[in-house]
Amino acid sequence: MNQITILGAGAMGSALASAMVRAGWRTHLWGTWLDDHLIDAIEAGRPHPRIDVVIERDVQTFRSAQLTEAMEDSDVVVMAVASVGVPKVIELALDGVAKADALWLTSKGFLEAPDGTIEQLPAGIRRIAAERGVTVPPIVAIGGPVKANECAAGEPTSTIFACTDLDVATRYAREARSARYCIEPSDDEVGVEICAPMKNVYAIMLGIADGLHELRDRPHHNLKAATFAQAVKEMSLLGQALGARPETAFGLAGVGDLEVTGLAGRNKFYGVRIGKGEGSRAALQTMADLEQTVEGEPAVGLAVKLVDQRGDGLADRLPLLAAARRIVQDDPDDYEDILIQAVLPAKP
Ligand SMILES: NC(=O)c1ccc[n+]([C@@H]2O[C@H](COP(=O)([O-])OP(=O)(O)OC[C@H]3O[C@@H](n4cnc5c(N)ncnc54)[C@H](O)[C@@H]3O)[C@@H](O)[C@H]2O)c1
Repeated sequence: MNQITILGAGAMGSALASAMVRAGWRTHLWGTWLDDHLIDAIEAGRPHPRIDVVIERDVQTFRSAQLTEAMEDSDVVVMAVASVGVPKVIELALDGVAKADALWLTSKGFLEAPDGTIEQLPAGIRRIAAERGVTVPPIVAIGGPVKANECAAGEPTSTIFACTDLDVATRYAREARSARYCIEPSDDEVGVEICAPMKNVYAIMLGIADGLHELRDRPHHNLKAATFAQAVKEMSLLGQALGARPETAFGLAGVGDLEVTGLAGRNKFYGVRIGKGEGSRAALQTMADLEQTVEGEPAVGLAVKLVDQRGDGLADRLPLLAAARRIVQDDPDDYEDILIQAVLPAKP
């Protein structure tokens, strides 16, 4: 029987734990020092506080002080914490990760190296490990339209597992599959990992269109659809510039995940607040007061920096990203015009 250890008992880590039990894996779920209340609920058989779904009984839970025990004999380790926690958690888990056959990644975001270089998460993890003389096993980037609550409840879900070694991705796509958790293998680690944080950025912009709808009590579906199309185009362009396959942005990792993220979720609701005129700074504070981390907000600045560091004119081809930067960072009153100019075609 395969054994897996999932690091992070938040919404996604816990949802994946249930999916892995259903796929027949011995499943360990480790909670960080921030997760004791979540582990309490899981152990008591109460619904997980973040997703209101009871986690499978056969998931074995571990507290933050039990990391070594949690990872013992695991074939696969999964990084499932918020991107901000990845450097710390990977450092703590490095010994167990090095012994595993693979490291899976549901965390989404960018990291900033000490020299200021912006890295995709797999590159950042490999760098942190190399600095400590450790080689990480193959990384499997997990993406696609997976809302944690639906996945945990066993609703039909399609996801994508990407590894530079397609055989590894295919093996786990087969072994982690269950009746309603279905996995497409891919060799495009870069493409999946670029779509993951970028769809959070673009979901903010989709939320703004929805917010304008609420503000005016008139649909802005045309604007939202134009924003969606531009977002997909930019995910594909940015991915290609970094070595990804163009089509990855048009599949589960791009279009699929953007659709689900633009329907609901923290990034979209942050955008709705901006669209309704709350102002980007005030809206972010409201989200923080509600204990809602908006991962797309820091991703905007990191993505702009990543693009600027290339210095190859790519920035000019990503007007929606530029608009996101202006709206999120400058808190302008004319946010509506900025969005419109970024997505409606100019006069030919
Ligand atoms: N919720 C989803 O539907 C979903 C789907 C796919 C991927 N993801 C990704 O999975 C990751 C986790 O998301 P989630 O929805 O489970 O979030 P969550 O807020 O429910 O859980 C966050 C997890 O990260 C840990 N964490 C947060 N800040 C930390 C810090 N500073 N140091 C160490 N650990 C920290 C928490 O302890 C917790 O385990 C994110 O990168 C997210 O984008 C989420």
